[in-house]
Amino acid sequence: MLVTGGTGTLGRQIVDRLLDRGQPVRVLSRTARQGRVPSVAVDLRTGAGLDAALDGVGTVVHCASGMGKSDVDAARNLVRAARAAGSPHVVYISIVGIDRVPLGYYEAKLATERVLAESGLPLTILRTTQFHDLLGTVFGALAKSPVVPAFSAVRFQPIDSGEVAERMTELALGEPKGRVADIGWPAGAVAARGAGRLPAGHRPSSARAARAAARCAGPCAARGRQPHPGQRGGDRHVRAVPGAGVMA
Ligand SMILES: NC(=O)c1ccc[n+]([C@@H]2O[C@H](COP(=O)([O-])OP(=O)(O)OC[C@H]3O[C@@H](n4cnc5c(N)ncnc54)[C@H](OP(=O)(O)O)[C@@H]3O)[C@@H](O)[C@H]2O)c1
Repeated sequence: MLVTGGTGTLGRQIVDRLLDRGQPVRVLSRTARQGRVPSVAVDLRTGAGLDAALDGVGTVVHCASGMGKSDVDAARNLVRAARAAGSPHVVYISIVGIDRVPLGYYEAKLATERVLAESGLPLTILRTTQFHDLLGTVFGALAKSPVVPAFSAVRFQPIDSGEVAERMTELALGEPKGRVADIGWPAGAVAARGAGRLPAGHRPSSARAARAAARCAGPCAARGRQPHPGQRGGDRHVRAVPGAGVMA
C-alpha cells in the first residue's frame, strides 16, 4: 500500500494502523522523513518520482494535501501514474460540505473528487468533518486574542483524527466502494465535552483543543443540542448532515 501524506496528522495514523495489521506500507511526502517507514520524497504537484513510488502498489490511500488548488493537479498526476501502474484502488479522504460552501480549498477538494471519480480507477471516498487537532489550532489561536469572534450560523461536528484513521484503514483493506457514508460527531460535542458531558472513551484527542473550543463555541453548542437530520442517538459516529462541520 502507498499512503500519500503519510507523514501528516491523518496519514501517519493510517500508516501505524496498516503496519500494526501486518501490511507492507510505502509512505510518500514532499520531503524524505524518518519514521516507522521512511517516506519517499515525491512532490505530487510535479509527479516526478511517482511512477517508482507506485511500483507494485495495490492500494493508494491519498491523504496528501497542500491545502489549496494545487491538490487538483496533484490528483491528475496521481491518476496518470496509477493508471500506468495497473490501476490500484484509490482511497481518498475528503471533507463534509465541500459542495455547499464556497471556500477555495473546498472547491479544490470537490474538483479532486471529480478527477478521481472520472479516472476509472477503483475508488473509495470518505468525507469527514474537521479534526479536533485543526479546531484546537484555530480556537487556540483565537483564544489568545483580546477579542474573540462569535461564530454565527456555524455548526462544528469535529471528530478525532484517530477515528477517521481507523475508518480509512478499514476502507483501504476492503474492496472499492465509491462514496461511503460521511462521518462526524454530533454538533456541539466539543463544547459538551468541555462541560464534562461526553462519556469516557468518547473524548476529543486533545484536551487543550476541547477547552479552547468550549471557550469559543458557546453559540454553536447551543445549536448543537438540537437533533439534526440523519443523527442517530447514541451512535459513536453519526451520518454528518450536508454542510455540517464547516463554516457556512
Ligand atoms: N485536518 C482536518 O480537519 C481534515 C478534515 C477533513 C479532511 N481532511 C483531509 O485529510 C487529509 C490530511 O489532512 P491532515 O490534516 O492530516 O494534513 P497535514 O497534517 O497537513 O498533512 C499533509 C500531508 O500531505 C503531504 N503533502 C503536502 N503537499 C504535498 C505534495 N505536493 N506532494 C506530496 N505530499 C504532500 C505532507 O507532507 P510534506 O509536508 O512532507 O510534503 C503531509 O504528509 C487532507 O486531504 C485533508 O483535506 C482534513
